Amino acid sequence: MTTTITVTAATGAQGSSVLNAYLSHPSPSPSPSTKLRGITRNPTSSTALSLAARGVEIVSANLDDEESLVAAFDGSTHIFGLTNFFEPFLGNMADSNAAAKAVAIETRQGLNIAHAAAKTGTLKHLVWSTLANVAQISGGEWSVPHMDSKNAVDAAILADDGLRRKTTFLWVGAYGNNFAYPGMTPTWIESAAKYVQLHPVAPDTPIDMLGATTPNLGIFVIAVFEQPQLTLPSDKNPRSKFVNASMEKTTVEKMLQLWTKATDKEAVYVQIGAEQMERIWGTWGRKLDLMLGCFDRYREKAMTVRDGKVLGMEELGVGEGLVNTEEVVRIMRSD
Ligand SMILES: NC(=O)c1ccc[n+]([C@@H]2O[C@H](COP(=O)([O-])OP(=O)(O)OC[C@H]3O[C@@H](n4cnc5c(N)ncnc54)[C@H](OP(=O)(O)O)[C@@H]3O)[C@@H](O)[C@H]2O)c1
Repeated sequence: MTTTITVTAATGAQGSSVLNAYLSHPSPSPSPSTKLRGITRNPTSSTALSLAARGVEIVSANLDDEESLVAAFDGSTHIFGLTNFFEPFLGNMADSNAAAKAVAIETRQGLNIAHAAAKTGTLKHLVWSTLANVAQISGGEWSVPHMDSKNAVDAAILADDGLRRKTTFLWVGAYGNNFAYPGMTPTWIESAAKYVQLHPVAPDTPIDMLGATTPNLGIFVIAVFEQPQLTLPSDKNPRSKFVNASMEKTTVEKMLQLWTKATDKEAVYVQIGAEQMERIWGTWGRKLDLMLGCFDRYREKAMTVRDGKVLGMEELGVGEGLVNTEEVVRIMRSD
């Protein structure tokens, strides 16, 4: 039987990492028995055209339109599902309800992926790109918008036993290039001749880093798809399977030290309050506070599931070829 690997958001950081990993995989893909398919709204974008030139079948579909996904998933044996919270969020930053509106949109798009995947008769394995369920871990005390929407989709998949048994829940660690985002980039203080990083959490707040999105995410996804005996529920071990796609368990202050090392620039970590974050960066500052704050408050527990184990690099046998965050910062510096 032909293996057809279909990747949503194929032109983005995660989707293109998955396709690139298959395209450079030692057992050649695409091969006569393995086909790669990428989904985009715009098949004539330069990224889509360059994927097509490398042998990826590019299919037009919109995450807002379930029927377009049903058609795009037709014949797929493996699906990588991704939604992008940040497109509707960043597009509405002036709106004080931007986060709530983006949650509604991302949830709907994720449900469309889940429903379309459930209707794909040939499906063997869905990797759903999601994040840890902090709302559940905190007993409802903490809520992070771009986690809540993904977790609502998790709940729908968990409630559909047929789909749940074909799904791996992939928690994607923080990208190494997040330093490029406002509020993450250290700020130059002329009078001190130093950079400062203003963050709303204690310096020892744990953070799990994916490292470089490409190649790392694709390496994790191939390991998940190639080891269904480990990454899918079975009759013997029917529990849902969660994977943490991270290569570095570090802290926010150690991340800044990495930045210092990679850029040769002196930087100081300064903890400020949530209110100051919001006054400086508005809605975006509030979001950063909620996201980092959950790791400060719930520490390593934030990256756990209630019953069961989260699989990581070691269990998946992933390591070779991964690019760490320090290297990402060096590459960003030389760009
Ligand atoms: N930054 C981090 O550290 C981090 C860590 C873990 C998880 N995440 C999550 O990663 C997600 C973003 O993924 P990314 O970084 O790969 O995004 P990205 O590089 O910005 O790319 C976004 C992708 O989404 C596609 N897309 C957006 N809306 C679509 C729609 N309505 N229909 C079809 N395709 C659509 C775009 O495709 P076209 O434009 O070609 O149609 C594009 O391929 C967010 O949800 C975020 O929460 C981020």
